[in-house]
Amino acid sequence: MNYELRIGLHIVISILQKNKKMLEKAKKYIKEIENFIPNKAEEVEQLRVKFLSTKGGIIKKLFSEFRNVPHKDKREYGLVLNKLKKTIANKVKTLKSELKNKNTEVINFDLSLPGELDNGSRHPISIVKNEIIEIFKRLGFTISKGPEIEDDWHVFSALNFPPEHPARDMQDTFFIEKNPDILLRTHTSSVQVRVMDGQEPPIRTISPGRVFRNEAISARAHCIFHQIEGLYIDKNVSFADMKQTLLYFAKEMFGKNTEIRLRPSYFPFTEPSAELDVSCTLCNGKGCNVCKYTGWLEILGCGMVDPNVLKSNNIDNVKYTGFAFGMGIERIAMLKYDINDLRMFFENDLRFLKQF
Ligand code: PHE
Repeated sequence: MNYELRIGLHIVISILQKNKKMLEKAKKYIKEIENFIPNKAEEVEQLRVKFLSTKGGIIKKLFSEFRNVPHKDKREYGLVLNKLKKTIANKVKTLKSELKNKNTEVINFDLSLPGELDNGSRHPISIVKNEIIEIFKRLGFTISKGPEIEDDWHVFSALNFPPEHPARDMQDTFFIEKNPDILLRTHTSSVQVRVMDGQEPPIRTISPGRVFRNEAISARAHCIFHQIEGLYIDKNVSFADMKQTLLYFAKEMFGKNTEIRLRPSYFPFTEPSAELDVSCTLCNGKGCNVCKYTGWLEILGCGMVDPNVLKSNNIDNVKYTGFAFGMGIERIAMLKYDINDLRMFFENDLRFLKQF
């Protein structure tokens, strides 16, 4: 072989080898791009510059060598090069839009990691309310509800409040309208009236709900609080039945050794009326600062339904008798959990709520 021919062949072979190397390189680049996972937003930009920059980018270099590729290889080379160009353009586009949506530096994260939100917990008022409901359910009481916005009839008149009774006063009641009176209920006894209105005895029901009174907010009082009302009407219901029911409740709520006592009291809608005390849950009746050294804690008002109330609600007050009681849920919760400021229930401070 003459010298010139040998030189020519050498050049051709080296070009072919070079082309082959470039082809392999281009294929490697495609793999590299496909597997690329950035840790930071800058890395996406760095990738774009490396491949797509018009000044010295890999794609530009490879295309500039295209004219040296022998005719028969042009097709394969062209296909690979175009694929590389498309792959990098798509990759940069999707990575950038992902970053924009997530608005965060890190897009390489584990979707199966648990969320960082705290689980909520039940409010102590709900816990105690549900506990009271469960106790009375076991005695066969149903649950009834009534509206928070009421009229004079359901809150006062049907419950035997005389027209001049101080509870009707502006100082206690939040009025929405005067004449006819529309107001926020001051006690859940209004639900008694609604139950009696639509039902023939026997009636055995409890009514939990929010009540409103125009009182200064302090450690012991709030203008919004929660009550549970109880009503039992049937033939031959006696004061002894009421006492036994409330003793059962006290023991279930505060423990087996709890004792009760009834002190005479007054409510317009019950006769006779009483206040129920339980033996102090903290000192077991010995006397402490919670029970003010009396050994007793007042927890609810109760009494035999006044015959006038039965009559107002079209229930035969010769045939039927009944008892009613009402308690503040906040008060029970304060005693149960030894909380000394009622305002805590309304502040929604997570440090307080998390403890239940
Ligand atoms: N409604 C009374 C109050 O709010 C409580 C009560 C209910 C008393 C039923 C007796 C009978 O104080």
